Amino acid sequence: MRDVLEGGYDGKKVHLRGWVHRIRKQKKMIFVVLRDSSGVVQTVVKKDAVNEQSYASAEKMLIESLVTLAGNVKADPRAEGGFEVQVEDFNVLHFAEEFPITEDQSVEFLNDNRHLWMRSRKLTSIFKIRDEVFAASRKYLRQHGFYETTCPMFVSTMGEEGGDLFEVDYFGRKAYLTQTSQMHLEPQLFAMEKVFILAPSFRAEKSRTRKHLTEFWHLEVEEAWCDHECNMKRQEELISYMCHAVAKNRLPELKELGVDSKRLLDVNPPFDRMTYTAAVEACQNGGIDIKWGDDIRSDAEEFLTKDSDNFLFVEYYPKEIKSFYMKDNSDDHRTYKNSDLLGPRGFGEVIGGSERETEAQLIIDNLLRIGDDPEKYKWYIDIRRYGSVPHSGFGVGMDRIITWMLNLEHIRECIPFPRTVSRIYP
Ligand code: 4AD
Ligand code: MG
Repeated sequence: MRDVLEGGYDGKKVHLRGWVHRIRKQKKMIFVVLRDSSGVVQTVVKKDAVNEQSYASAEKMLIESLVTLAGNVKADPRAEGGFEVQVEDFNVLHFAEEFPITEDQSVEFLNDNRHLWMRSRKLTSIFKIRDEVFAASRKYLRQHGFYETTCPMFVSTMGEEGGDLFEVDYFGRKAYLTQTSQMHLEPQLFAMEKVFILAPSFRAEKSRTRKHLTEFWHLEVEEAWCDHECNMKRQEELISYMCHAVAKNRLPELKELGVDSKRLLDVNPPFDRMTYTAAVEACQNGGIDIKWGDDIRSDAEEFLTKDSDNFLFVEYYPKEIKSFYMKDNSDDHRTYKNSDLLGPRGFGEVIGGSERETEAQLIIDNLLRIGDDPEKYKWYIDIRRYGSVPHSGFGVGMDRIITWMLNLEHIRECIPFPRTVSRIYP
């Protein structure tokens, strides 16, 4: 359809195939808006221009029927897209049953019919942008010498908070769906130095917020010879690259979704930075109930960026609220060399990252301090025993960054089949 709309076929004969998007009947003609993956084109089937059987088919077919047609393209300012195809030959390949989705249906109904609703122009545009974001992140990382790899989704050790694990029965043993691929990614950098994985992570968080999925897509990056500073630079560059790729390559889809590409073109390094300590002070001054050592909850995250169009790194969080594998901050031993990246205008966290601890004994100390058993992490600690290398890494919530890019109301909009606390169908 896109080829027709781009104008090169004006006055020429075309063969089209696709699904019936809309039908409008008049006395002796039927307007059929045809849809394929590239867009929609208006066609007109006139009673005296096609054979009787074709016209009868067009008259009785319902939307979402599958058709092929041949006809002549004519510029017509009244048609959506500016062109109309005057049909000469019309075939219905599959007569659709009555499509359950009509206008003004509840969000619940639409989500129950996600498998059908995904044909809508809105969702199609979102998924094409999702493809662009995935492709751009791979392209950026490859260009900078990273290898894409894979990690297991069944794991026996936890990566982040214990409470968020989905437990599975693994032939009588306890296993979990992975919350992060980080721990299986780090060993791989001793072979390849720069590695990444784009895979789902699973979190059994009971959070019913606009930003939580139980199965989300996680881009995780690990880089040897990279410190905290280098890690944040990598994140800035990657996020900016992703935003620019969408702005450049997906303009029609952004238009369809009512998103100004300037929003994305304006994403450029350097991102703002603030220490955790300064963030807590700013929140306290803003009347938010928080003290040093508390996690920065979503209301505090919102407060920190509500007036800003830039992304914000919050760095050096207290050890009590972050993970045992992070590197000690030698300037303030109460904290780690880590950062969370917060989206503009109160969006909240999109990336978590840190420089990693290189000393086996310090990781063991961290585990003991939080009452965990270093024996469970033996294999992970092992990699620090043989040529331990300075390295850093981070995890991008891909669904979150897409939600921010498109200013979507809920994270479930950006993924074909969302999994949330309350939804596992279809
Ligand atoms: O901050 P998190 O928990 O960090 C990690 O898992 C690290 N091991 C990553 C790493 O360093 N390799 O998760 C990383 C990101 C978050 O910043 C957030 O964007 C996203 O993953 N995320 C979720 N996205 C959607 N739904 C959820 N329930 C999410 N939980 C985390
Ligand atoms: Mg986090």
